[in-house]
Amino acid sequence: MAAGSQDVGEHWSSGTAFLLAAIGSAVGLGNIWRFPTLAGENGGGAFVLVYILCVALIGLPIVLSEVLIGRAGGHNADSPGSIAEVAERSGRSRKWGLFGTVGTLTAFLILSFYSLVAGWVLYYVWVSGADFLEALFSAQPFAPAFDHMTRDEVTGMMGGLFANPAMLIGQHALFMIVTLAIVAVGVTGGIEKAAKWLMPSFFVLLVLLTIYAGLTGDMGAALAFMFTPDFSKLTPAILNDALGQACFSLSVGGALLITYGSYVPSEVRLAPTAAVIASVDTGVAILAGLMIFPIVFAAGLDPAGGPGLIFQTLPIAFHQMPGGALVGLLFFTLIFFAALTSSIALLEAPTAWVMRRFGLGRKQAAASVAVPAFLIGVACALGYNLWSEVRPLFFWPIFADSDILDSLDGITGKIGLPVGGLGAALLAGWVADRAIVDAETGLSGGMLALWRFLIAWLAPLAVGLILLFGLWPSLLG
Ligand code: ALA
Repeated sequence: MAAGSQDVGEHWSSGTAFLLAAIGSAVGLGNIWRFPTLAGENGGGAFVLVYILCVALIGLPIVLSEVLIGRAGGHNADSPGSIAEVAERSGRSRKWGLFGTVGTLTAFLILSFYSLVAGWVLYYVWVSGADFLEALFSAQPFAPAFDHMTRDEVTGMMGGLFANPAMLIGQHALFMIVTLAIVAVGVTGGIEKAAKWLMPSFFVLLVLLTIYAGLTGDMGAALAFMFTPDFSKLTPAILNDALGQACFSLSVGGALLITYGSYVPSEVRLAPTAAVIASVDTGVAILAGLMIFPIVFAAGLDPAGGPGLIFQTLPIAFHQMPGGALVGLLFFTLIFFAALTSSIALLEAPTAWVMRRFGLGRKQAAASVAVPAFLIGVACALGYNLWSEVRPLFFWPIFADSDILDSLDGITGKIGLPVGGLGAALLAGWVADRAIVDAETGLSGGMLALWRFLIAWLAPLAVGLILLFGLWPSLLG
């Protein structure tokens, strides 16, 4: 097939299959790892409140707009193609597709460090697995995790991992290979099956662990930290972090939902689907916070502990919990699967683009995205040890102190995703033919008017202002 006309050839088998896959793409390390990390670093309550507002008023309307652009774009199953198609059918320039290109590039960059962090999860799967086997062979299957270690040794495992480049890169490679294998085979079969069983199991275990953390940790301190907003701490940088996190977690702005939307059957009602995705995703993030912070406070850890925070706190919970060896193994395994359903989407979006743009087959396209993403992830891994002094964006004040992973996370979260989301909002709110957009939403009356206001006015204005002042805080004087 000629370059540019490759049909990616994927379809969800039903509306429920799409819903599960979209939830699978949304729920992942963004909820379990990135949300508690950012909430902790940004002082808790004010960040959480702004985050929830960003999800409801900006993220949710954009989720709907991205899925509908994907579906309206027809078989142009990639983000730039779908956007360009919708713009052209509305009598506008195909150049609007550039927003999709930004989103696709952002998904590619996120994949690189996402796989590295998922590799940390994988490391804990192995360590917990070995620990559980040891408990089993000592005829104590319900022993706490890491029974033979002190608590300092348990929290210290993370530092040991960070100091070991070979281990970091090995786990990262393994995770990328699994993601690549699934995407190379095709979307629907693999993702649908995985999402159907793994996501519900993950939710059940998450709820149980949150209850456990509440009973044994300091839930009072956690609730106060997460839900008592101190508005004096609110800065443009925190607003930018909250918006970026809403985009990251909902999979907005990174071409994922446009790509997944293009595989959605025409009878699926998109607006309720978008609402379910946003609610479940936010619920999981809040639960993750309520699971992590009681342990953080009870153990006297620093909530602003950074990217390693959850990998220090969860093992503590499993260390003191009867049956912790088994629960730890199960939970890290489920986080692994939650991360996998997201990384599949992160690889699928650029893969679909490469297939259409260069006329490559699915396998070659997926490999040609995964290999460079892996190499960028290797640089992030070295940023934790051999290259720990490297500050790639030293010239930009807001990123001057960021190591390689944080720089990439900052560029994609603070800029790439909001810009991609802004493009979807402008397209759905202003550029695309009203008839196309309205028919796709399935909304009418007051709900349609509300969505129109949010997507045409509130979302673009808010994203524009947050980007402006978040990236150049000096503008505020
Ligand atoms: N939305 C995905 C996550 O939150 C990328 O992990």
